[in-house]
Amino acid sequence: MKQKNRCILWSGVALLLLLALFLSSVDASEVHIGSNGGPLNDAQVRYIAKRQLLYYLDEFGDRGENVTVDPSLVFENPRLRDAYIALQAWKKAILSDPYNLTADWVGSDVCSYSYVFCAPALDNSSIRTVAGIDLNHGDIAGYLPEELGLLRDLGIFHINSNRFCGTVPKKFKNLKVLFELDLSNNRFAGKFPYVVLSLPKLIYLDIRYNEFEGTVPPQLFDKPLDAIFINHNRFAFELPDNFGNSPVSVIVLANNKFHGCVPASLGNMTRLNEIILMNNGLRSCLPPEIGMLKNLTVLDVSYNGIVGLLPESIGDMLSLEQLNVANNIFTGTIPQSICKLPKLENFTITNNFFTEISRSLFSCFG
Ligand SMILES: *[C@@H]1O[C@H](CO)[C@@H](O)[C@H](O)[C@H]1NC(C)=O
Ligand SMILES: *[C@@H]1O[C@H](CO)[C@@H](O)[C@H](O)[C@H]1NC(C)=O
Ligand SMILES: *[C@@H]1O[C@H](CO)[C@@H](O)[C@H](O)[C@H]1NC(C)=O
Ligand SMILES: *[C@@H]1O[C@H](CO)[C@@H](O)[C@H](O)[C@H]1NC(C)=O
Ligand SMILES: *[C@@H]1O[C@H](CO)[C@@H](O)[C@H](O)[C@H]1NC(C)=O
Ligand SMILES: *[C@@H]1O[C@H](CO)[C@@H](O)[C@H](O)[C@H]1NC(C)=O
Repeated sequence: MKQKNRCILWSGVALLLLLALFLSSVDASEVHIGSNGGPLNDAQVRYIAKRQLLYYLDEFGDRGENVTVDPSLVFENPRLRDAYIALQAWKKAILSDPYNLTADWVGSDVCSYSYVFCAPALDNSSIRTVAGIDLNHGDIAGYLPEELGLLRDLGIFHINSNRFCGTVPKKFKNLKVLFELDLSNNRFAGKFPYVVLSLPKLIYLDIRYNEFEGTVPPQLFDKPLDAIFINHNRFAFELPDNFGNSPVSVIVLANNKFHGCVPASLGNMTRLNEIILMNNGLRSCLPPEIGMLKNLTVLDVSYNGIVGLLPESIGDMLSLEQLNVANNIFTGTIPQSICKLPKLENFTITNNFFTEISRSLFSCFG
């Protein structure tokens, strides 16, 4: 998988290089690369091969974008100079920007770049630094260069609905004040991005709709996150016992390959407002501790292999509005306690093995 991923990236780098050579080489008159696919000269072949090699070798470091800062550029402060290097490296790693969102990312005034937001630094209010980047719905293709780790004052990084591929840069570990990370609906692949575990201020993690695979580190559930969206990936994993340590209000794990049990520690997630576990491979019963989730409004465990009875304690989840247990292996009777739930709007039970649905239950749902 990793190999494949790199190949995709490499073809991108090659394309970029060709483009760069074509557009900006000083020897352009001697170079015939273009739509007619003319040959590269030896020096160019060597250059590309070197870049390719660098890319393959340097799994943990820079990817060779090599931004040089024109000495004539004047920067408001050193952090904005770093931001310039980061954003220019990123621009080099962008292969397609169909809406021209980054077209004005030119020059030393990075605070004037579109979709880049500056604010006083948290540790020094007398200087401006890059505090946020929002390129949502840009349809941009490319990858994230390690230089983005230079954006040390970044609080918000939103790039949902683009075509970024590859992995999350290891140097994101330097983003010590990042609190919102939204990489959803891109083409990231490979292992869970472990680097997010080293972001002390992170509270919102959204990596849904990508191609991440493998396990999810249990440490994720010990982090003080408020929202975790990892649905629609290829994670295969057993929910660990420390799952219930997570202080999240929303967690969506749907459409992965989570298996094993629903841990009893779930009952400790008292801040939980919404949990969606649909379409995984969960077995075991629903633990009775689930009744402790007084603030839960949405519970969806549909399309799993959950067995046994629906616990009577479901009737204690007084905020519940949506309850979906469809397409499991539940048996027995449906507890009458569900009738008492004051806010329940939608209770879906299709495709289970409930023995009978009592007349009184029908009457309580009208
Ligand atoms: C990057 O720049 C340095 C110094 O200018 C140079 O030695 C190195 O070969 C360059 N790397 C690439 C990949 O162009
Ligand atoms: C983006 O810029 C290119 C070149 O300047 C132009 O041809 C294209 O129409 C622009 N696209 C949009 C969506 O503005
Ligand atoms: C804040 O930034 C200003 C301007 O760069 C600098 O003079 C000052 O020493 C900085 N203060 C701190 C506490 O770092
Ligand atoms: C819930 O949390 C308490 C206190 O942290 C702990 O003792 C208990 O084991 C947890 N319950 C479960 C089911 O993990
Ligand atoms: C549950 O919701 C109520 C009302 O919205 C709120 O006051 C309370 O703090 C919440 N409890 C937890 C544990 O978050
Ligand atoms: C109830 O929820 C199910 C499953 O999510 C959904 O298919 C159905 O449309 C919902 N019904 C209503 C009336 O909202």
